[in-house]
Amino acid sequence: MPKRDVYTHGHQPAVVNQHARRTADKCAAFARDVIAEDSQILDVGCGPASITAGLGDWVPNGTVTGIEIASDILEVARQTIEASGLENVVVEQASVYKLPYEDGSFDVVYAHQVLQHLTDPVAALKEMARVARVGGYVAVRDADYYTMCCSPESQMIEEWRRIYCLVARHNGAEPDAGRHLLGWFHQASIKNVHTSASAWAYSSPEERANWGFSWAERCLTTSFAEQAVEYGYATRAELEAIADGWREWATNPDGHFHFINGEALAQIS
Ligand SMILES: C[S@@+](CC[C@H](N)C(=O)[O-])C[C@H]1O[C@@H](n2cnc3c(N)ncnc32)[C@H](O)[C@@H]1O
Repeated sequence: MPKRDVYTHGHQPAVVNQHARRTADKCAAFARDVIAEDSQILDVGCGPASITAGLGDWVPNGTVTGIEIASDILEVARQTIEASGLENVVVEQASVYKLPYEDGSFDVVYAHQVLQHLTDPVAALKEMARVARVGGYVAVRDADYYTMCCSPESQMIEEWRRIYCLVARHNGAEPDAGRHLLGWFHQASIKNVHTSASAWAYSSPEERANWGFSWAERCLTTSFAEQAVEYGYATRAELEAIADGWREWATNPDGHFHFINGEALAQIS
């Protein structure tokens, strides 16, 4: 049994609003070819469910089940699905470590930016593979924080990345998860794994402002900020300076930020 997980980001508005911008078209593109109109999909750790709703559009004759461990974000997910009008999507409370489904229940079991937050990603993958049918797929995508960088170079944003990684690892999680997916699949005895990588970039004025101001706020008002201070990795004054660094970058017309996501897609045999 894994030790108790701590979600590094928290579910405060600055986090949720950022995650709710995600779409299936961008975040599940690596699995698009294995999803049919009648696929039964499980979206593990669905967060505010913007991706979940997009998956619902992809499977008009199928179903999508989103699961979340946290009741506060589950309520947001419910509202997202209700507003979408989709009748083939449900969201439920469950943990990836103990999925309340029979073996082989789903065609595709998907998790986006979830394994990086878990103390035992291999146990999670075993459970995801259990509920995928033989011939179905497990599909996972996670960031690699090591690859996060920006122009103009910013000492404060580099400091943010350093502190974020310390906090995540203090929580027993792996912020560079993207590069470890293949190894984790193998440790979970999942074979036939195809891995890929795709980048996220923020440099249009709208993207830069959203990403930069959002992280400025996240450095001050979220669980990450609380944990950074509680664990002794930053003082409140240092977080204020880092937030200023994010704002400075967000308002620089030359500002560009990018990073790599690792992706893994495995057919269950
Ligand atoms: C970074 S968010 C990603 C949300 C969504 N997949 C997306 O990409 O927008 C990670 C989510 O995983 C959820 N989570 C963490 N541990 C979990 C667990 N054991 N079982 C299910 N969900 C979990 C968190 O509550 C959080 O909402």
